[in-house]
Amino acid sequence: MASSEFVGLDIGTSTFKGIQVKGKTLTAYYQAAAPGVSLLSENPNDLKQISDSLRKFFDDAKFRTRNVVTSVPESQVFTRVINLPQMGEAEIASSVKNEAPQYVPMPLEQAVLDYEILGPSETQSGSVDVLLVAVPKALTQKYLQLLQGAGLTPLSLETETIALSRSVVGDSSQPVMVASIGATTTDISIFSGGALRFTRSIATGGKSLERALAQTFNLEMGQAAEYIRTYGLEGKLEGKVMGAIKPVFDIIVEELKRSQAFFTSRSRRPISRLVLVGGTANLPGVLVYLAQALGVEVARGNPWETAISIPGNFPREYLEEFASSFAVAAGLALKEI
Ligand SMILES: Nc1ncnc2c1ncn2[C@@H]1O[C@H](COP(=O)(O)OP(=O)(O)OP(=O)(O)O)[C@@H](O)[C@H]1O
Ligand SMILES: [Mg+2]
Repeated sequence: MASSEFVGLDIGTSTFKGIQVKGKTLTAYYQAAAPGVSLLSENPNDLKQISDSLRKFFDDAKFRTRNVVTSVPESQVFTRVINLPQMGEAEIASSVKNEAPQYVPMPLEQAVLDYEILGPSETQSGSVDVLLVAVPKALTQKYLQLLQGAGLTPLSLETETIALSRSVVGDSSQPVMVASIGATTTDISIFSGGALRFTRSIATGGKSLERALAQTFNLEMGQAAEYIRTYGLEGKLEGKVMGAIKPVFDIIVEELKRSQAFFTSRSRRPISRLVLVGGTANLPGVLVYLAQALGVEVARGNPWETAISIPGNFPREYLEEFASSFAVAAGLALKEI
């Protein structure tokens, strides 16, 4: 039972998104453009700009609280599933400590280390899968500073992928792959047997498509974005838009194929479904394009389908239009604190 009210806050590089729920019912939502400076910047002025924008975001939104649960970018977090022999929980805890240095690519004193026992291994019988998560301390400190600078009270930080497991993955027993295609990043994750088994992050997203189209036809970025929203991968307009963005989109496709092959070869279980979230999941023609490329069923992730219900007096059409964009914030809002 959730004891404190909070907002699930997704601090994207292009858009801030916030979702508040009571139980499993939506009570408030808001999205607004981000200031366009990187959260990973070391420049204090950039961070101040993000803090100020977040403060304004909460001033403009109709949330009832400034308590937040937010996510750190998947690309900055180390996650890996490791195999350990069957043993008791206390032994797993000490085993994880002993094994961590060989996996985690940073000095352990600089990281916050966490793990979750996923259950019997899907790749090696007789052993258990353990999800190892290491977050750089410098990153969590930066987030805490940023949020406090915006007048917010952080209750918890987690990764975007874990948030998505609550809002769009469902409890399918078959392996499901999720691609979260944002403005600057694509996060790929695979869930199976109710747990996260694989994550991978690449620095290609909607902005990369816009840049490619803008350069090919010498367009302003805004204009390129408009064309992409209209034509996407549908091959209309003599395929001009598709031709320009396809080589970049195929970087994402290749990474999805690699992830699919890696998981399938190790677990011997085929991926049954690909769920797309993030703003770029709305690219026209993307579902058919990916279904053909990967040979799996593809659908957009929609937190309003089963995870969260929308009261009758809320603008359903608007929320449906942005369903895949709100997926991370929705998952954060569903965390039990
Ligand atoms: N209908 C659409 N067709 C194609 N692209 C779209 C559409 N709607 C939004 N986008 C793109 O989605 C991106 C924004 O998505 P999202 O809000 O998920 O990003 P973000 O979370 O801010 O970024 P990131 O997660 O990479 O930090 C932008 O690049 C935008 O151009
Ligand atoms: Mg995002």
